[in-house]
Amino acid sequence: MTEQFERLQKVIAQSGVTSRRKAEVLITEGKVTVNGEVVKTLGTKVKPSDKIEVEGIPLENPNKLYILFHKPTKVITSVSDDKGRTVVTDFFPQLKERIFPVGRLDYETSGLLILTNDGEFANHMTHPRYKMKKKYVAKLKGFLLREQVKELEKGIMLEDGKTAPAIVKVKTQDREKNTTLVEITISEGRNRQVRRMFAHFGHEVVKLSRIEYGNLTLKSLNAGDARELSPHEVKQLRQMAQYKG
Ligand code: URA
Repeated sequence: MTEQFERLQKVIAQSGVTSRRKAEVLITEGKVTVNGEVVKTLGTKVKPSDKIEVEGIPLENPNKLYILFHKPTKVITSVSDDKGRTVVTDFFPQLKERIFPVGRLDYETSGLLILTNDGEFANHMTHPRYKMKKKYVAKLKGFLLREQVKELEKGIMLEDGKTAPAIVKVKTQDREKNTTLVEITISEGRNRQVRRMFAHFGHEVVKLSRIEYGNLTLKSLNAGDARELSPHEVKQLRQMAQYKG
């Protein structure tokens, strides 16, 4: 991956430490180092892998991007597709940084997906050890029975092992259409896990959407829309994954 060069004062300002004007003053005063060397020249170009310190304090994640995206259905959670189908990064044509999805949602699943260029962050979010909570709303064929809810809450045996306890809340059941609307929160991220958990009881999932990820919700974001996460949201996610970056 080729690295994008940016002007030093811009990188400092974007990290949220101070304004661009003040960053320029700090640079000319000799208070900024790049890879251990004092840099006093305004406009010096730096790349993401450079270690920048302002008054001896390292910049937190310069040039790191964290995006909350409402993935529509019929979009592949990938950066490319050999069959030419729409992929999640097609929604960000203006972006210079190379971002990639954190975990995945199925082609037919919509909902909350994080995209980032921070590989270490992505690894932590998806590592099973950190048990990030993900809430889904699912529309099922058939009636989900009380005993089935209890079993899901305890954990059920799938072909790749027993699932961790889930939180399950039945929202509505439509007798005429013979469907159940249910919210399920899981802390694992196995392939097609929610669909397989309901299939275990013979319930086909006809609609699935992820509505929460850790501290994040979709709020008023429509399918296909995205926004950047605030530094506070990123910090909270890191804390939830017991990860200080
Ligand atoms: N579980 C699924 O079955 N599909 C998803 O996309 C996510 C979780």
